[in-house]
Amino acid sequence: MSADLETRLSRRVKQIKISATKEMPMIAARVGGCVSLGQGIPSFMTPPHVVDAVCRALREDPAAGKYSLQPGMPALRVAAAELLRAEKDLPADPEREVAITVGGMEGLLCAMLTLIGPGDEVIVPEPFYPSHVEQILMAEGTPVFAPLRRSDWGLDVDAVAAAITPRTKAVIISSPHNPTGAVFAKADLLALAELALKHGIFVICDDTYDALTYDNAAAFSLMSVPELRHLLIGVFSFSKRFALTGWRVGFLWAREELLNQMLKIHDAAAICAPTPAQIAALASLSGPQDVFAAMRVELEKRRDLICARLTAMAGRFSFVRPHGAFYVMAKAEFSVLDSRDLALRLIREAKVITIPGGAFGPGGEGHVRLSFGGAEAEIETACDRMAAWANQL
Ligand SMILES: Cc1ncc(COP(=O)(O)O)c(C=O)c1O
Repeated sequence: MSADLETRLSRRVKQIKISATKEMPMIAARVGGCVSLGQGIPSFMTPPHVVDAVCRALREDPAAGKYSLQPGMPALRVAAAELLRAEKDLPADPEREVAITVGGMEGLLCAMLTLIGPGDEVIVPEPFYPSHVEQILMAEGTPVFAPLRRSDWGLDVDAVAAAITPRTKAVIISSPHNPTGAVFAKADLLALAELALKHGIFVICDDTYDALTYDNAAAFSLMSVPELRHLLIGVFSFSKRFALTGWRVGFLWAREELLNQMLKIHDAAAICAPTPAQIAALASLSGPQDVFAAMRVELEKRRDLICARLTAMAGRFSFVRPHGAFYVMAKAEFSVLDSRDLALRLIREAKVITIPGGAFGPGGEGHVRLSFGGAEAEIETACDRMAAWANQL
């Protein structure tokens, strides 16, 4: 970048970067012939009933190609509120407490820009989802890391307590967790809720992977804790559990007063979520659910497959078995310069895309994150290549 441009840029943009999750596929595209365990995309196509609903609306409904109401289509807000009531025991008011956003990402951004400013600290369990940190920096706040337990990637409430200072404004929690696939224990989450209440800290609850758990274990959500609700912002996504990553739709829950503030950011940033995407989200929520249940079952099979393949690479890679989302952190058991070098070598020498663990914080160093959102054949090919590569080291 030229020195002239650099001096004219905002401090905000200079301190953020594009995450490694997006960078690695771009490097791999230049190398060619790679299979991907990289970006977090479930491989499933948009289900036919969802496609049909959107096509029908675009042909027949004059409103389908236009802006919706700024906080979202009323019918979708009602369906979202029903989901909250059914799954999180949260009596959500669709008109006052729910807003549809451009993916979970824009919901998170509305939360961050509403709560955080210069001098504010946000506690982030680490390893972390990189965009959480970039958004805190974008709001000119300070991320403060609370390491997850290294033995099982569990939530370490003592580490969160130790990170609290008088400047702590919020803590961000995501379970099932990206990048570790951990599902935090209910007791730990309740202890965190107590801490938040004691210190008056906002809790941003990123439930992007809420329905994607395995081994018959449901993820406990802090949205289900009534005492916490005045401090809570809930962020949801249609991307993963409904396989709608490209449609860019999610929703936010917060008490009315707080949601009204976040809606100012939503208005300035996006006006409204894309209406065709909202129609897709409504069809996903209100139509048949068996197709989505089948996706979860398929992801569990892929989880079993990648774990079996990694187990067979013992001595080269070790891992903690994930119980949710579709990620596993594979730790190199051989000497590596750093995780970025490892990921770049895997791209160039093994033709496998992974994400360097260091991109998720210091606890991720020495690891690469593998996504098992891809089809089984892709996982098999990638693991064949990784195993052959690791064997000849
Ligand atoms: C933890 C987490 N939160 C939020 C998001 C954003 O999801 P979207 O904007 O597609 O809803 C992702 C995407 O990977 C994620 O992993």
